[in-house]
Amino acid sequence: MKAFRDQEIAKVRAQVGKGRVICGLSGGVDSSVVAALLHEAIGDQLVCVFVDTGFMRAGESEQVVSVFRDRFNIKLVHKDASELFLDKLKGETDPEKKRKIIGATFIDVFEEEARAVGGADFLAQGTLYPDVIESVSFTGGPSVTIKSHHNVGGLPERMNMKLVEPLRELFKDEVRVLGRELGLPADMVGRHPFPGPGLAIRIPGQPLTREVLDILRKADSIYLDEIRKAGLYDEIWQAFTVLLPVRTVGVMGDSRSYDYACALRAVTSTDGMTADFYPFDMAFIGRVANRIINEVKGINRVTYDITSKPPGTIEWE
Ligand code: XMP
Repeated sequence: MKAFRDQEIAKVRAQVGKGRVICGLSGGVDSSVVAALLHEAIGDQLVCVFVDTGFMRAGESEQVVSVFRDRFNIKLVHKDASELFLDKLKGETDPEKKRKIIGATFIDVFEEEARAVGGADFLAQGTLYPDVIESVSFTGGPSVTIKSHHNVGGLPERMNMKLVEPLRELFKDEVRVLGRELGLPADMVGRHPFPGPGLAIRIPGQPLTREVLDILRKADSIYLDEIRKAGLYDEIWQAFTVLLPVRTVGVMGDSRSYDYACALRAVTSTDGMTADFYPFDMAFIGRVANRIINEVKGINRVTYDITSKPPGTIEWE
């Protein structure tokens, strides 16, 4: 990875010359590593744009700004577009339509912000090898689309920008090694993958509202908190909560409750292309379930997803 880093820095410098580069920063591992690599290669020729969809996990938006703007001194535009995203998705429950709407809205907002900072010659993307082969065949031929993974496809042509994709040949574990090599904080580099459409694809079968997003965000942060406390975070590839479109009857004290059910998901994987469900100890799951039911208003039942990939996918939508 040390050699890869030097080689990619040289490649980026040769490709970009004195040009300006825009990088879409999401707070995830991939775009963070791209931003750090490019900043090292070309310094202030890089501008990062963080389109805040409102579908981030608890505390993440704030962290993106504090790490990149304050600590790394990278030029960063933070656009809160949560209102717009919710508006565009109003009433939509179809997974593919949601992905398409989120992708298109993301491009619109990104483009507007990119123009506002004076445009650029290049667009940097944290595309990884699995993204390349799972959505579109690597060689450009047709392949079955399982999910339209959200990215800024189409934008480079529209804005007449060339692509810079330094991670295109890497798998996730290699990106993490590269991130450490670049001096990114360990917690950021070790963070579980998070999909571009974020929490919006973890609320299947019902319209998205701030209310359901908040319920999911609270449950998810309890789950991750318990996983960290148990020292299991790094053993797991991805862990998250899904808010189910079903209400169930429960008892709380002396009264009846009628609230949402949620599903906990945790998988191990090396590249996201196949995955096994994580075999938690039942006592652990019970602890998480108790906390969620007691602390999150709106959820009264917790289930655990024991589907591996294939036949399931990692995300529910
Ligand atoms: P699936 O659900 O397809 O997920 O088994 C494989 C990996 O990809 C992530 N994922 C996405 N990442 N945009 C992304 O950037 C997306 O639309 C998207 N959908 C899934 C998923 O979280 C897992 O790591």
